[in-house]
This record gives sequence, structure tokens and C-alpha cells, in this order.
Amino acid sequence: MAIREIVTVPDPVLRRKAKKVTDFGPELQRLIEDMIKTMRAAPGVGLAAPQVGVLQRVIVVEYPENEDDENAPKRLYVVVNPEIKEMSVETEVGVEGCLSIPGVQGEVERARALIVRGQNRRGQPVKLKVTGWTARIFQHEIDHLEGILFTDRAVRLWSLAPEEMTSDSV
Ligand code: NI
Repeated sequence: MAIREIVTVPDPVLRRKAKKVTDFGPELQRLIEDMIKTMRAAPGVGLAAPQVGVLQRVIVVEYPENEDDENAPKRLYVVVNPEIKEMSVETEVGVEGCLSIPGVQGEVERARALIVRGQNRRGQPVKLKVTGWTARIFQHEIDHLEGILFTDRAVRLWSLAPEEMTSDSV
């Protein structure tokens, strides 16, 4: 396993659409292991493959299952070819930061709950129901697969020193 370099703006790879994964072999397994390690080292709570320069539809998310308790055990999600199948009408505005856009935060309106379908790392189908911050992170990561950055969606943006970042980056 290796920590990979996180690509930052204005690298054009962040603006390209990622390709559907069809090969679940060792190369994909290595990519996933590296993405988990890179996300944890950053530290961040989510990462999409284009952020390490790989245009494949893979995301990793790690966030406490019980969001009201900071010390709650974290749950790691690895989703290949994720697709949002349902989105709540109810939305929430929250502060986001992105590992690929250092020193910028912004308020983004996102759906409060989602149903996501995709595949696990072995290619088996998965269906997830996620809410709150976890749902926000999923929307942010799936946007990365389309070449969309949170700054495109933000209703308000501001810059600050990296050590002043108040939100977990993704
Ligand atoms: Ni991001």
C-alpha cells in the first residue's frame, strides 16, 4: 500500500468524467487500498479516484456511523460505480472543503438522504441508504466522478489557511 499524491486544482484531470470500472482485478484492489491510506493520511473523510489522478469510478468514504457522537466508531465505505438512485427532497446547507482545493471552504446545499447503488470491491452489487454528513460526502465524491467540484455548487465560498479549516475535507 502506498500513499498517493492528491491532485489539486487546476489540474484538468479533476474536470474529466471518470470511466466505469469493469475489471475488479489486482490493479483495482491496489487502487482502493491506496485510496484508503491516502484518505486517512490526508486526513480526510472521503476520496474519489480522480483525486489521485485515476479516471475510474471509485470512491471511499469513512465517517462515524452515529454523527451525533464524535467518538462513535467510523464506518468505511468502498463503492465502485456508485450511482445515486434516490435523493430526498429535503436539503441541508453545510460547510464543505475538498482535499483537491486546499484553503477553500464553502456552503453547499445537498440532499439530506440518498439511496446509492453500486458495487463493492469484488464487483458484487450493493445498495446503501445514507443520511446527513455521510450523504453529503457521497454527493461530493460522486460529483468528483463527473468532474464537478464543490466550488461549482457552493452558495458562498471563502478562503482560509489550511490549519484553519473547520470542516473535514473530502
Ligand atoms: Ni473533494
